[in-house]
Amino acid sequence: MNVFIETYGCQMNVNDSEVVLAILQRAGYARCEKLEDADLILVNTCSVRDNAEQRVLGRLDVFRQEKKRRREVVVGVLGCMAQRLKEKLLEHPAVDLVAGPDAYRDLPRLVEAVRVSGKQLDTILSHEETYADIAPVRMDRSGVTAFISIMRGCNNVCSYCIVPFVRGAERSRDPRTIVREAKALIADGYKEINLLGQNVDSYRWVNPDDPEDCLDFAGLLEQVACIDPRVRVRFATSHPKDMGDKVLYTMARHENICRHIHLPVQSGSDVMLEKMRRKYTRTHYLERIARIREILPDCAVTTDVIAGFCGETDADHAATLSLFREVRYDGAFMFQYSERPGTLASRHYPDDVPAAVKTARLNEIIALQNEASLESNQKCVGRCFEVLIEGPSKRSETELMGRTSQNKTCVFPAEGHRAGEYVTVRVLSCTSATLRCEIV
Ligand code: SAH
Ligand code: SF4
Ligand code: F3S
Repeated sequence: MNVFIETYGCQMNVNDSEVVLAILQRAGYARCEKLEDADLILVNTCSVRDNAEQRVLGRLDVFRQEKKRRREVVVGVLGCMAQRLKEKLLEHPAVDLVAGPDAYRDLPRLVEAVRVSGKQLDTILSHEETYADIAPVRMDRSGVTAFISIMRGCNNVCSYCIVPFVRGAERSRDPRTIVREAKALIADGYKEINLLGQNVDSYRWVNPDDPEDCLDFAGLLEQVACIDPRVRVRFATSHPKDMGDKVLYTMARHENICRHIHLPVQSGSDVMLEKMRRKYTRTHYLERIARIREILPDCAVTTDVIAGFCGETDADHAATLSLFREVRYDGAFMFQYSERPGTLASRHYPDDVPAAVKTARLNEIIALQNEASLESNQKCVGRCFEVLIEGPSKRSETELMGRTSQNKTCVFPAEGHRAGEYVTVRVLSCTSATLRCEIV
């Protein structure tokens, strides 16, 4: 049996697809790259914004056409949309199976049940499931960087966010299984480990057999960094309310922990931050940025921001712009607010910023950030960096792509080098997105 899997959303979802492949492989499935070869079509979905869901609905129409050609094909929807929409998705003519993020162990049985008795649904959320014992089947081609989910779910209640509803309660994974997985990846030749969680700073593991034996994120990061100093460690996402100095000092002690922190701010206005239930103020956020720059002077900082949240005034928006000017981020993911059904915001605050205003504000933030990204890259011109090569560049077969510790993308002539090697490059020129380099 062949399984075709398509993934939307965050890196944790990508890692979940790898867990799903591992579970199905044990049950005798092989992964295929073409829809036409599949006996089972899976789409692992995202609900974070409405446009993410619309894209998946578009894909379901394509899968429906495939089912019209081959009636025996089973189509399953996994992930956050499955969890959010449940039976409603099962009503879609293309969909045979709906399985939420904590139901993946059951997939082989569910697919069999579809073949025997028709449509199936499993969207029960768990307080324990971490898939800790499953070695994910890696989907990346290069074999250089891999993701490890160190926790699942989220216990925060940011008022705009659907994630806690669709991923369930926060669970931290046993660190011994994380270290074991990292070691196995390194033995397979991987050179970079990405530790993933919705809020890595609230990682906390307590040994059920010995409550004295516990570990926080800084401790976990240190353990993973100590496995092999030639293997890079990255992590995301940090939360401004929880990211303490301990993590920063841990990074400072280990050169192989990459100099990059993704610290989503969401808004520069205290009124909005309060309404968003982010549990920090602008002042607190800026103090965290100051500590990063003090303890890790060469550390890049990136962020997420939402334009046009409920009740956002021109003054609130101006506060976001001024924060961006003050911090000068190395990069940012920028979004318009999208109301998600069932969230605190959808129940309590009208989505009252007109679409055109949201777009105009977002465009202003993007323009400002493009300047900052360019300026940050221009500072690198003339300097040398150690780069981990990830593979050929997008544009040319004779050029390679790799990243600096700060997560900046470098492109340079291959000169016989290969993915997985470290090289030192000098930056010759840049755009806001890429550093053009030569190997030195
Ligand atoms: N756990 C991470 C973020 C996960 S979602 C954190 O707390 O920072 C990724 C990003 O999507 C968020 O940082 C936020 O900027 C954006 N986002 C979440 N819900 C959104 C919504 N309803 N509308 C627009 N953007 C949203
Ligand atoms: Fe969503 Fe907030 Fe949790 Fe991030 S921390 S996943 S934004 S609820
Ligand atoms: Fe999307 Fe779910 Fe990730 S909503 S961002 S795929 S946790």
